[in-house]
Amino acid sequence: MTNYYQNLAASDPEVFAAVQNETRRQHEGLELIASENFTSEAVLEAAGTTFTNKYAEGYPGKRYYGGCEFSDVVENLASSRAKQLFGCEHVNVQPHSGSQANMAVYLSVLNYGDTVMGFDLSHGGHLTHGHPLNFSGKSYKIIPYGVKPSDEMIDYEEFERLAHENKPKLILCGASAYSRVIDFERIAGIAKSVGALCMADIAHIAGLVATGEHPSPFPHMDFVTTTTHKTLRGPRAGIIMCKEQFAKDVDRALFPGIQGGPLMHIIAAKAVAFKEALQPEFKTYQQQVKKNAKVLAETLAGAGFRIVSGGTDNHVFLLDVFSKGLFGKDAEKALDAAHITVNKNSIPFDQNPPMKASGIRLGSPAVTTRGMKEAEMKQIAALIAEVLAAPADETVRANVSAKVKALTAQFPLYPNRQSLASGAAGD
Ligand SMILES: Cc1ncc(COP(=O)(O)O)c(C=O)c1O
Repeated sequence: MTNYYQNLAASDPEVFAAVQNETRRQHEGLELIASENFTSEAVLEAAGTTFTNKYAEGYPGKRYYGGCEFSDVVENLASSRAKQLFGCEHVNVQPHSGSQANMAVYLSVLNYGDTVMGFDLSHGGHLTHGHPLNFSGKSYKIIPYGVKPSDEMIDYEEFERLAHENKPKLILCGASAYSRVIDFERIAGIAKSVGALCMADIAHIAGLVATGEHPSPFPHMDFVTTTTHKTLRGPRAGIIMCKEQFAKDVDRALFPGIQGGPLMHIIAAKAVAFKEALQPEFKTYQQQVKKNAKVLAETLAGAGFRIVSGGTDNHVFLLDVFSKGLFGKDAEKALDAAHITVNKNSIPFDQNPPMKASGIRLGSPAVTTRGMKEAEMKQIAALIAEVLAAPADETVRANVSAKVKALTAQFPLYPNRQSLASGAAGD
């Protein structure tokens, strides 16, 4: 067994213990949070390298510090692989996060007070698409659009009407909780017809897009941002892609506009993740992600739950637990106690406040990375139904928890790190 963390264990037992416990938590639980995934060992190793020590403000070949020759190597690798993966004209691989990627695009083309159309958070959008408490909602005049009450899918006709009525400078699309295909071509067409620029935030579906399992926003969109840690299965960070004509402004908006030194260790890890995503197995993985989400949703529907929009075309879906008399908050808590991790989530036209919420969001990327397939999804759906049928019952929670432990033991996660974790924690 590789002796991971021996220095950490010796120098900081408290942090070491937390790392051990987190590793074990990830191994023993069922991770259904749609925005999470498990990176490869290679990505983890790259993220833990000596590049964390390096300042490399600027861009390859034009840095503000000496000693950047190897930083240039990893940044150029990350950029060329991202270009190959997505077929974009320009990419900036330096954003520390998805939020900063979005902020840089806005700063590159908008003035404060400009009108922006964004997908309503309560219908599945993201905070950075114009929530009043976020910088986006405070800085710009946001016109939210949403889904139809009839089928809970994006209302493209109303979208078009709002675009013509408000003449936004930028139209945003992309979501954090939307289980259907997004018609990037149609959205870009509407944007062009009103003279707006358009941006797709593909944070959630990037892995599907990269492998052709969701239609690409290219060449339709002017800007495309993504996180790298969700379906794309890389380190926690973001990237910005855009048409060549916007490249200089985007780069300048990110650095020196909002960031200083890039996280070179994370950029190295992005390069590794993009190489992995270019392999044929990554497409097979994304296909399984979709199959698994579908089976999970269908099995839960079979157990009497309502699935928002009636199903899923991607990696995620919302379960309306309020239709069974439960708040999302309580469902999340009950499942957590049984080591099934989900998050409460508002559903479109929710009658409950976000902190209670009527739904939970379920996603298949992380369990699929562990090798689970349709048969396991059916088991997981049955376990969820069992807990939610008696959410406060301690015996049910304990029984399900034991079944979760038995199931996850068949799909080891980070075996070297995990075996040390169990040993160290005295299991
Ligand atoms: C659609 C979308 N955009 C942006 C982000 C923000 O990413 P980060 O948490 O890295 O800032 C998220 C994260 O959940 C997201 O779902």
